[in-house]
Amino acid sequence: MKQQLDEILAQGRELIAEADSEFALNELKVQFLGKKGKVTALMKGMADLSAEERPAMGKVVNEVKSSLEELFEARFQEVRELDLEKRLSSERIDVTLPGRRLPKGSLHPITLVTDEVVGIFSTLGFGVVEGPEIENDYYNFEALNMPRNHPARDMQDTFYISEDVVLRTHTSPVQIRTMLKQRPPVKVIAPGTVYRRDSDLTHSPMFHQVEGFLVDRQVTFGDLKGTLQTFLNRFFGHEIGVRFRPSFFPFTEPSAEVDIACVICGGKGCRVCKDSGWLEILGCGMIDPEVFKAVGYDPAVVTGYAFGMGLERLCMLKNGINDLRLFFENDIRFLRQF
Ligand code: DAH
Repeated sequence: MKQQLDEILAQGRELIAEADSEFALNELKVQFLGKKGKVTALMKGMADLSAEERPAMGKVVNEVKSSLEELFEARFQEVRELDLEKRLSSERIDVTLPGRRLPKGSLHPITLVTDEVVGIFSTLGFGVVEGPEIENDYYNFEALNMPRNHPARDMQDTFYISEDVVLRTHTSPVQIRTMLKQRPPVKVIAPGTVYRRDSDLTHSPMFHQVEGFLVDRQVTFGDLKGTLQTFLNRFFGHEIGVRFRPSFFPFTEPSAEVDIACVICGGKGCRVCKDSGWLEILGCGMIDPEVFKAVGYDPAVVTGYAFGMGLERLCMLKNGINDLRLFFENDIRFLRQF
């Protein structure tokens, strides 16, 4: 029995030294000192010894047992320290490292241009108003002097939601909504999203416009020209050539389309301006008396001008963007440039 105990002790010493985790040590401890462990089994065997042998053997067993316990205790300590060291080195944070930059978002180029246009008109004394994108036929067409079956409706391929409800095809209905709410003088711009059944290289079914109008006593076409020239100079950052061409819109009389000297070639003629030297940029005119009647203004007392322009076009000309689709594809490499 003594020999067996010596063997157990030797084996225990070896295995304890090899164990490299608290878990492994606990397992081992059960194997040696647990209820069904090797040492316990030998102690049970003592019952078979004679009364003389028993005390001496008991002493040896207890010695082996406490030796093993000491060995376990010491190794536990070591393993814990090793473990701590391992964790300290693997979890170390170098507080001197520079932080990682989070990618920063930026505003969409159309939003930037909208803000800029609104900013310029604000300094000219225009307030900002908005209207709904889902609009009644009445505001989008009827009150703007485009009754049902009027041929001008053909210019704007419309998304109909029902007989009387459309996705607004322009920002002009905001003129009506605003005039119904306010008495003259009125001087506002209305930026927003508009929709048309049109989709090709140069047309998107969803795009953006800014509407502007002024109603007061004795407003003239000269006021309109001055305001637009000032706006365009500021927007493009230099004195820019502007020409007014006679045109037609049902809600203005007279009406004009405004061209600017081509910002690409300076007026000499290029692909962008189709060799004309001019770029069409907006529609405008003096508000038609029929529109004033629809909102209850007296055309004998007030006059006014109105204009509307596409923001995508302004943004493209200002930034040299040659493909409308870039605005809607959300390619981060494109958007990052603004
Ligand atoms: N609403 C017109 C369009 O979408 C643009 C326009 C033309 C607006 C003349 C106006 C205007 O206010 O006076 O094509």
